[in-house]
Amino acid sequence: MKIAVVGATGMVGTVMLKILAERNFPLTELLLVASERSTGKEILFKDTRLRIISIEDALAAKPAIAIFSAGGDTSLKWAPKFALAGTTVIDNSSVWRMDPSKKLIVPEINANILTKEDKIIANPNCSTIQMVMALAPLHKKYSMRRVIVSTYQSVSGTGAKAVQQMENEQNGIQGAMAYPHQIHRNVIPQCDVFEENGYTKEEMKLALEPQKILNDSSFSISATAVRIPTSGGHSESVNVEFVRDFTIDQVRTILDQTPGIILQDNPATNTYPMPMFAHGKDAVFVGRLRRDDTQKNTLNMWIVSDNLRKGAATNAVQIAEHLAKHGLT
Ligand code: A2P
Repeated sequence: MKIAVVGATGMVGTVMLKILAERNFPLTELLLVASERSTGKEILFKDTRLRIISIEDALAAKPAIAIFSAGGDTSLKWAPKFALAGTTVIDNSSVWRMDPSKKLIVPEINANILTKEDKIIANPNCSTIQMVMALAPLHKKYSMRRVIVSTYQSVSGTGAKAVQQMENEQNGIQGAMAYPHQIHRNVIPQCDVFEENGYTKEEMKLALEPQKILNDSSFSISATAVRIPTSGGHSESVNVEFVRDFTIDQVRTILDQTPGIILQDNPATNTYPMPMFAHGKDAVFVGRLRRDDTQKNTLNMWIVSDNLRKGAATNAVQIAEHLAKHGLT
């Protein structure tokens, strides 16, 4: 299968190439695309040096699938052109996610709704993916009423400029700022820009995307998204009120049996998910399971995942694998 990766030199794009290689994706040709300033440079994929090409050349080459991770503007402008040429686009930006004509996919949950006609498929927000992975099997069993989530998000989620800002600050170097404040030795209660309602864009993604993925608006989500000075891996404190009651043992069994979830939950050995352990892994790690005794049918948990992998690149590659396996391109 001929695949294009648009944004191949970026933070997510780089991980995307690693994952395509690791999973031995059935490639006949890999087209690497970046901005004009990178065209002509070479990237090593497996043992082959591949030259970066322009997005125009990639479009003309008519790949079966193009995975976009080059920002919203590039997706808005180019995804429709690729779709028109017959390429299936898997888009990592937020521009198509809430478009009613585009599907928002976490393969373990809703890849079954994809058809050949879906030419632009949206990859959800990184914080959404890891949260909904843990919520989906519990929702099925106990039906969620309300979720309150606070995130602790790493700087890699913002992109290369933010990682550079943190490193500069750690080394006492003055440089370009990705955030409105210092991130080193700080915590910034702002991820992305503010909307008119006082929430940030990231918080609204967390509130709205799960309803679309689960195809259910019977529950509501309230989010606070916070940036912390870790380089990779997002963490989330999640409080869920269900319609039906549960036991912690039942919840543990359900999560333990869910593909893609790894339970790390043993207070006796101080075992719980942490970004350090999630780094470089594809799973979503869940722990600190406990009842919220302040109200009925309510659970507290802690969810961690590598935001560049399951939160972005792995999820996109899994969508591509589903399309390839079921002949949907
Ligand atoms: P480049 O490295 O040439 O700037 P990140 O999210 O880490 O900032 O990465 C963004 C990615 O998107 C990079 O690979 C970047 O390439 C690529 N990119 C940015 N603008 C365009 C564009 N107009 N066409 C294709 N790729 C783009």
